[in-house]
Amino acid sequence: MSNLEQTLSIIKPDAVERNLENEIKEMFKSNGFTILKEKKIKIEKSEAEKFYKVHQTKPFYSDLCDYLSSGPIVVIVLEKENAVLGNRELMGATNPKDAEEGTIRKKYGISIDKNSVHGSDSVENAKIEIDFFFKD
Ligand code: CMP
Repeated sequence: MSNLEQTLSIIKPDAVERNLENEIKEMFKSNGFTILKEKKIKIEKSEAEKFYKVHQTKPFYSDLCDYLSSGPIVVIVLEKENAVLGNRELMGATNPKDAEEGTIRKKYGISIDKNSVHGSDSVENAKIEIDFFFKD
């Protein structure tokens, strides 16, 4: 049965800064994702705090929000069959040192903070995250 889904990807400041935007987008496309929408933006810390609200009790929350708002990011809506899980597999483990060969974070990630990409972790969160950046 067909299960076309959308998911949100963010190319984080460490990757934008190293001009990896196009290479990462090529990885999405060559893995069968369609890029439905994309924009390069810079967000305020207050917006990062809203986006990462699920992590507000974590010790790394403030640093995480400082980081996401530290430079330009590219927010992307990806579409594919089972896109949420597929993108998580393509990204690899949160910590690049645990990520498998061939994944985006293995290839480009620097550290658990500078891990180059974010991806929605569930279909429900994908809807919320897509609305967060693309609701006009
Ligand atoms: P991301 O997928 O964007 O979701 C939350 C981010 O928090 C995660 O990627 C990591 O970059 C960052 N982070 C920092 N420290 C941790 C940690 N100890 N566990 C999980 N995520 C962390």
